[in-house]
Amino acid sequence: MKNKLLVTGGLGFIGSHFISSLNDENYEIVCIDNLSNSKLTVLDRLHDASSKKIHFYPIDITQKHLLEEIFTTHKDFSSIVHFAGLKSVNESIQLPEKYYLNNVVGTLNLLDFFKHSSAESFIFSSSATVYGDSKKQPVEESFPLTGTNPYAWSKIMCERVIQDTITVCENKKAFALRYFNPIGAHPKAILGEDPNDQPNNLMPHILKSANKESMLNIFGNDYRTKDGTAERDYIHVMDLASAHHFILENSNLLENKFNILNIGTGKPTSVMELINIFEKVNDTHVSHSFTTRRPGDVVTSYADSSLINCLGWFPQYGIEDMCRHAWMWKKSFK
Ligand code: WQD
Repeated sequence: MKNKLLVTGGLGFIGSHFISSLNDENYEIVCIDNLSNSKLTVLDRLHDASSKKIHFYPIDITQKHLLEEIFTTHKDFSSIVHFAGLKSVNESIQLPEKYYLNNVVGTLNLLDFFKHSSAESFIFSSSATVYGDSKKQPVEESFPLTGTNPYAWSKIMCERVIQDTITVCENKKAFALRYFNPIGAHPKAILGEDPNDQPNNLMPHILKSANKESMLNIFGNDYRTKDGTAERDYIHVMDLASAHHFILENSNLLENKFNILNIGTGKPTSVMELINIFEKVNDTHVSHSFTTRRPGDVVTSYADSSLINCLGWFPQYGIEDMCRHAWMWKKSFK
């Protein structure tokens, strides 16, 4: 019997890599994406990469009547994997209502159908930003949550809404996967980070600088870290995809109805360390200059992922792979 998945945001950076990781034929995929930060060409790439048929619908989760059509057409979902969401910290500060509408109301709409569907599990794309600027590192799932921007608050609210919803759903479970910093690309360069808008995050700017498109501005080198630049837990996007696959296959290992799991490597890497590794691995140069700190940035953030590690999942790729695959993807555009 095939497992039928509803994958929201399935043409986005994480979602598309997740779909590409489902090589076995046990899954039938229904993918919805509003293409606000993804491209339809990703669907072609996914079809080229595997014989799998993907049912695609270009819809937005804030359009409840369109979601209703999906659940009317497909009545046999086994799980929902929810990647769709806006993720720019800067934009969320400028347009908070856009983030609460899309991230929170969108998730509420989805849950309303999930409750009455055949799906038994709901996997949610959460984020390490829910921990705020935790002085204690590495961060554990039990640490207090605090939003330092509307994006982070929207993720905290989604987790709460999911937890309260799943509590009253018979025979269903939910999983909030708190991502740290996904970077890299598919090892065969068929997929990668390809934002529609001006990205905030670091790796796209490293790639632009290495490609001589622009200078990388490093936001602050006066932090109390080994080299003065901020530290993050960078995780290969394919490892993040495999963590979702692992939870889908092993949801029975977690007894709680609502489960929170950190998905990181447990290794902090500074901005300068990442640049130096990228230059060494790819034998290239990343021109950069130091500017002032970016408002809202945290000094250090890295995961205690022992909870999912104890279940048997571990990241397989190292920081060198992340840099190599990201550069291969960038060069594939030439
Ligand atoms: C990492 C480090 C920057 C760009 C991310 C996403 C955010 C949200 C949370 C999903 C920091 C520095 C960056 C640049 C730089 N998304 N940097 N120059 O801060 O963890 O936030 O996760 O959950 O949208 O961005 O990661 O990649 O933005 O920054 O110096 O041009 O790189 O100051 O120290 P962060 P990041």
